[in-house]
Amino acid sequence: MTLEFTPYAKGFGRGPPSTGPSMGLRPVPVAEWLARSPGHAAYKSAKRQRLAALGSVGFQALPGSEAAQAEALRMVGAHCGSPLDDRPPEPAAPLARAAFLVEEDLCLMSQCGAAEAEYRLVAGSVASPSYWRLADKLGQELLDIHDPVPALRSRIGQAMRRFFRQLPPGRVYLRGNWFIHASGEPFRTPEDASPGAATVPAGVDGLYLRCERQTLRRLPETGTILFAIRVYLNKVTELASQPALAADVLDAFADRDALIYRTRAVPDHRAALVEWLRGVATNGGASRPVACGEPDRQAGGERQLR
Ligand code: HEM
Repeated sequence: MTLEFTPYAKGFGRGPPSTGPSMGLRPVPVAEWLARSPGHAAYKSAKRQRLAALGSVGFQALPGSEAAQAEALRMVGAHCGSPLDDRPPEPAAPLARAAFLVEEDLCLMSQCGAAEAEYRLVAGSVASPSYWRLADKLGQELLDIHDPVPALRSRIGQAMRRFFRQLPPGRVYLRGNWFIHASGEPFRTPEDASPGAATVPAGVDGLYLRCERQTLRRLPETGTILFAIRVYLNKVTELASQPALAADVLDAFADRDALIYRTRAVPDHRAALVEWLRGVATNGGASRPVACGEPDRQAGGERQLR
């Protein structure tokens, strides 16, 4: 497996450590709106199976979002060149059909008819949440959705709202999120991040880098913004042959809040992870997996490792 998408890389658009969460948005050509990975068909098919099994857990929509959903389906269908009868069995709501055509999870953010209102999540097809639940976020305003992210509201809250108000149709913006997970499973609920939920048998060898390629595009007719999320999961140990990237992850973890937030599902493995990354970054090559030792939950426990 290769590391297809690396938002933790210094050049990607994140700020220096200690500046907190960043917008990290960059314009990309419309042709790059939606991912088309080498394993496109297989990825889509696995996502379709997950959506079918999830049913209403994976698809939810507020009344009134129908026009935006229909526009999203038209735009996605036109972009993919896929036949629009490529439909899921149930439910056949337009956004669910759109999500069957692409690798991404799809979320619609709308002002719900009022020009001055903040953007809210009005519909979503989500097969790969990272410790969140569509039902919990549906109807929530942009910044409330982000409440679990430390310092986001104070650092970039207003910039996010401005971006949503000002995004012109015809432009596509890209950003990335990333986390360390204890599992290669793409569907993760908040409970999976609760203390004690993760059992990683083989130390760093059992950890995963989970990266999200996110794009934002305004649908011109309804003014709704389509937020698309493609998830990439790789074993952390794939960084063994990428010392520069391992150094970048280590550098991002110099922000202690970021370290704690991004590794919140694997608190017992922080120390071993940081030690392993340091080994790869400084030795310039493969580092043997470190077995995880003592729990590292106490505040400040990571500080001496950086
Ligand atoms: C300008 C657009 C946006 C920006 C700048 C942004 C920024 C962020 C940041 C910085 C994080 C923390 C993770 C990380 O740093 O890697 C995050 C997490 C998250 N974002 Fe966004 N985001 C945007 C749009 C959206 C939208 C439209 C949704 C709607 C579903 C969304 C849903 C989430 C969720 C669910 C999380 C995880 C929160 C948790 O940890 O429970 N984001 N976002």
